[in-house]
Amino acid sequence: MTSEEFDQLRIKLPQWVEESRRHGTEGKVASYIPELSKAPIEALGIHILDGQGRSISAGDCSLSFTMQSISKVFTLILALLDNGEEAVFSKVGMEPTGDNFNSMLKLELVQPGIPFNPLINAGAIAISSLIAGEHSLDKSARVLHFFRMLAGNDTLDYDYDVYRSESETANLNRSMAYLLKDNGVLEGEVEEVLDVYFRHCSINVTCADLASMALVLSSDGVNPRTGKQLIPRRYVQIAKTFMTTCGMYNASGEFAIQVGLPAKSGVSGGILTMVPGKYGIGLVGPSLNRKGNSIAGVDLLQTMSQHFDWSLF
Ligand code: DON
Repeated sequence: MTSEEFDQLRIKLPQWVEESRRHGTEGKVASYIPELSKAPIEALGIHILDGQGRSISAGDCSLSFTMQSISKVFTLILALLDNGEEAVFSKVGMEPTGDNFNSMLKLELVQPGIPFNPLINAGAIAISSLIAGEHSLDKSARVLHFFRMLAGNDTLDYDYDVYRSESETANLNRSMAYLLKDNGVLEGEVEEVLDVYFRHCSINVTCADLASMALVLSSDGVNPRTGKQLIPRRYVQIAKTFMTTCGMYNASGEFAIQVGLPAKSGVSGGILTMVPGKYGIGLVGPSLNRKGNSIAGVDLLQTMSQHFDWSLF
């Protein structure tokens, strides 16, 4: 990667953040998990990290927020490490749905009733049941440990207010999980599986944590700072492919055209993305469009990708 590009990024980023921030107010902060409605609607922050340990941050980059659906990328990887490809893909498919992230329509309509992919809610709930561990708390402890290792941050922890808020109001996810149990997809007690899921969605991060996790994916599973292979290359390849086809839900096609990078969004407004072989990127902008993606965040990524010609396609 050229230092010139990094220097240009450093100069241009603050202005681009302010321009994209203005689009934020066109959307809404998620409120179906009541605790998330407290997020600042006008916030926008970003952190970019390269393999030499250089970083750039701009905007509200000290804001902490819960990972929500971004966590699904990494629970998928842990489930692959625990069970292998064959077992995982006997419980979840590999196809985008074209439906909302919390839709259960196809679980009934399309046989054999397994979730279409691991990044929709139904798929991630199925993945939670595949994490190794005796009880939900053992499984959750393994997830948290894995996330801390990838972020290089031993202080990552749950936001218990968000965890409780989701757990108390998750009627739709609960009904989906019971349907999955009936379809033979879930192992173990439904409430235990859901507890693992609610916990990993509520892990609190900053943009810098997301950038560190993304950098490992952008370097084919290696931590560029230590040279250590943290994730097998094949599992990184699977994760990045899902991020490209399903990571921005039913806006993944549009995002592929406008930005062209593997990415994963969450309803707290976070986006984890990367320029493969170059940068890990974490950003947050809590104001969402109707498909659940950060409006200002997508706008900012579009500006950067088009300026530097980052699209993979
Ligand atoms: O299950 C839920 O609805 C949330 N914990 C996660 C959803 C989410 O982040 C979808 N993202 N766009």
